[in-house]
This record gives sequence, structure tokens and C-alpha cells, in this order.
Amino acid sequence: MKTLVISVGGSVLIPTLADHFLSEYAEVLQSLSKLFRIFIVVGGGGEARRYIGAAHSCNINEAACDEIGIAVTRLNARLLIGVLGDYAYPAVAEDYTRACEYGLYGRIVVMGGITPGQTTDAVSVVLAEQIQADLLINATSVDGIYSDDPKICSTATHYDMITPTELIEIVHKGSMGAGSNNVMDLVSVKLVQRSNIPLLVLDGRDPYNIKKALLQGVIHGTIVSADRTSPLPL
Ligand code: UTP
Repeated sequence: MKTLVISVGGSVLIPTLADHFLSEYAEVLQSLSKLFRIFIVVGGGGEARRYIGAAHSCNINEAACDEIGIAVTRLNARLLIGVLGDYAYPAVAEDYTRACEYGLYGRIVVMGGITPGQTTDAVSVVLAEQIQADLLINATSVDGIYSDDPKICSTATHYDMITPTELIEIVHKGSMGAGSNNVMDLVSVKLVQRSNIPLLVLDGRDPYNIKKALLQGVIHGTIVSADRTSPLPL
């Protein structure tokens, strides 16, 4: 069985507590777990932003704001575990060693943030290194990487495939397209380059895009791989 790490942006999984896609994601993950070993890293989404906004307005320091963000990612992770039921290991992995340990039970492992000063995307890349994942998927709110913000620049080019080095250059330029200044942060993409693990950035607003990519090879996104000849090792 191949091993996947999937980073699911909180903004696509749980934009708000009243408006979320937990059931849709759970259905996709449950069916994929019969074919792949799956580790999920869940982001903070709208609720994390609201908590951090409140913390900023109270002049709480940045590191403490990050701790609040991490707590919300873990609450989101707990919600996903609840919806996944018996398919998931019943606890949120709070460090990489525990994620490895929980993975030994053959269920889906779910985690949120780990330490201040980074994002859950960075967590997903380090986790992928730790468990020697075959593929890292970043399910986000755009359909991949663009040369420029397509909402602003009508001539922006969508990339079907790029190398990690090219991705770093795009992030440096600050022009990852479609709300996409924040598709992935610089720390995360540098870790992607170091890990040498193929990354698939795809449109996570529809969770079935993950299934389509893995089972049918239909990709609504961008493959980031140093190996252009055999980009997806599945
Ligand atoms: P996210 O990774 O979810 O950031 O973590 P995000 O940019 O809001 O992503 P989306 O919207 O979910 O896609 C939320 C916040 O939690 C803190 C940071 O403050 C981050 O902005 N955090 C998260 C950490 O400090 N460390 C972590 O390991 C993870």
C-alpha cells in the first residue's frame, strides 16, 4: 500500500462551523483508506482566523496567537476524527512520533498544527518526510499553481507540472495566483524541495478531486516534482 499525506486547508474543510465539508471529506477518505495508508493534516480555517483576530485585538503576542491557531487546528482535527468514526485512529496526533505510532494501527491518522511559527502545510511536509510518504497532496482553495494571480491578471498561466525549484521562485515572486498568495508559504515549499517527495496541489473545494486524481489520473491542480518523467508514484 502506498502512503499519502493530505494537507487539507481549514478554509476548504471548515470555512465556518455552520458551513463545512466534513461529511464529504470523510466519505472520500473512508473509501480511499481501503487503497492507501492515509495521514491527514487539518488547517485552522475561518474559526482560527477569527480567534487569532480576537487575540491580536487584545495585544496577545504572536507566539501565543500561534498557540491559539494550533488549538483550533486540533479541534478541527478532532471533528474530522469524529466524522470518520472507526476509520480513524481516535486521537489527534500531537507530534510526529505519535503520528508514526498511530499509523501502525492501520487507520487514518489525523493531526493539526505542532509548533508556533509555521503552518499546517509545513507540518504536512515534515510528516511526509517522517513516514516516508509516497505522495503529498495539498487540498486548497485554488486549482493549482499560477504564474500570477488569475483574479487580477487575465494572462496568468496555470502550471500542470513544475519543479520544487520553480515553485520556490514563484513563491518568492509573491505571485502564486488566485487567492493564491497563500497557496503555500515559503517554509513549506523549501521543505518540499528538501524532501524530494512529489507534491500535488489541487482544488480541495471539491473533495472528489482527490479521488479523481488518485484513481483516474484526472488532475485539477499542479504536480510539483523534480522528476518530470514519472511525477506521480502511484
Ligand atoms: P493553518 O495552517 O491552518 O493556517 O494554521 P492557514 O493559513 O489559516 O490555513 P487554512 O486557512 O487553514 O488553509 C492556522 C494558524 O495556526 C498557527 C498559525 O498561526 C496559523 O496561521 N499554526 C498552525 C502554528 O503556529 N503552527 C502550526 O504548526 C500550525
